[in-house]
Order: sequence, then structure tokens, then C-alpha cells
Amino acid sequence: MKLGCKLGWLLSAVLAIGLVAMAYTFLVVGTTEPHADGRTVVLLSADERNKVLGAMRGLLETVQGITLAAIDGDMEEVQTLATAVGMAAASGESPALIRKLPLEFKTLGMGTHQAFDDLATLATVTEDPLEILGEMGKVMGNCTSCHAGYRLGIEGADKEQP
Ligand code: HEC
Repeated sequence: MKLGCKLGWLLSAVLAIGLVAMAYTFLVVGTTEPHADGRTVVLLSADERNKVLGAMRGLLETVQGITLAAIDGDMEEVQTLATAVGMAAASGESPALIRKLPLEFKTLGMGTHQAFDDLATLATVTEDPLEILGEMGKVMGNCTSCHAGYRLGIEGADKEQP
């Protein structure tokens, strides 16, 4: 093999490794750092963090609303509340924010939106509050798994995240 050809291969290999590393960072790792409590900190801007936490409080209100509506046997209200946090609600996420999220976080997040759509569908075919509450309990497995593994920090904060 000529030297130029070898160099060409070497360069391609280096570029390919670089691309894979970049893809890994963007798609799998996101912008994260470990935390002393054992969870992974997802680093966001202060605004993004406030927005995500606001959405989280909204999710808790949804869970509360669905629980009460199910107990009242109000399946229409269950549908309305669940649909409002379904996949449609996730479609407006900014690409800049999505890039910072690790793959598992995105998967759990999207899985949660999808699970609420599935719950809305279930509410169209059942009148049984216990069935809704049982599914709600399963959906909340996503909330608890994500909370067990992740916390949110502010990027560029040079001190250890509190
Ligand atoms: C993909 C990950 C993920 C999922 C799924 C998730 N959360 Fe969270 N949630 C977080 C993170 C990260 C925080 C911040 C925790 C921290 O920094 O200590 C948080 C914080 C919260 C907070 C606190 C908000 C505040 O103002 O501090 C509430 C309430 C909450 N989540 C509710 C829920 C509920 C209810 C669900 C399920 C329906 C849910 N979350 C699903 C990741 C998730």
C-alpha cells in the first residue's frame, strides 16, 4: 500500500472515530456530570431547568387530577387530562434542550408521554376506576425511575451542584 493511501485510511479512521464519539456524546451522554448522591446531574441553563421543573409540577397535578377523576368515574376528564401531557405535548421541545439530555432520560421522558396517551385510550374503553388507577400506578414507575437516577443542575456553575 502506498504511503498516501495508508494516510488516507488513517485519516478516515480517525474521522470515523471522531464522528462516533460525537454521536455518542450528543445522543447517549448529553451534558451530564456525576453527583455525590449517586444520581446523574443533567446540566441545563437556568431557564431550561425552570421550564422542565414547571412541566414536572404540571405532571404531578395531572396525576392528582386523574386520580380524583377516576374515583369519580369521570372518564372524559381522565382522557382530557392524560391527552394534555401525551406525545403532542412533547413535540414542541427545543432541539437545544433535547441535545443536553442523556438517551435514557429521553427514552423515559418520551415513554411517559406515550403512556399518558395510552391511558387516555384506556379511558375510552373502560368504566372501571381501578383499571385507570392501576395503569396510573404503572405510569408512575417512569416518574420514580427517572427521579431515582437523575437530578437537574445549572451548566457553567463552577461550584459543586448543591
Ligand atoms: C425523564 C425523567 C423524568 C420523568 C419521566 C419524570 N421526572 Fe419529575 N423530575 C425529573 C428530574 C431530573 C427532576 C429534578 C430532580 C432534582 O433536581 O433533584 C424532577 C422533578 C420533579 C418534581 C419537582 C419539581 C420542582 O419544582 O422542584 C416533581 C413534582 C416531579 N418531578 C413530578 C413528576 C411526575 C409526577 C412524573 C411522572 C408522571 C415525573 N416527574 C416524571 C425527571 C423526571
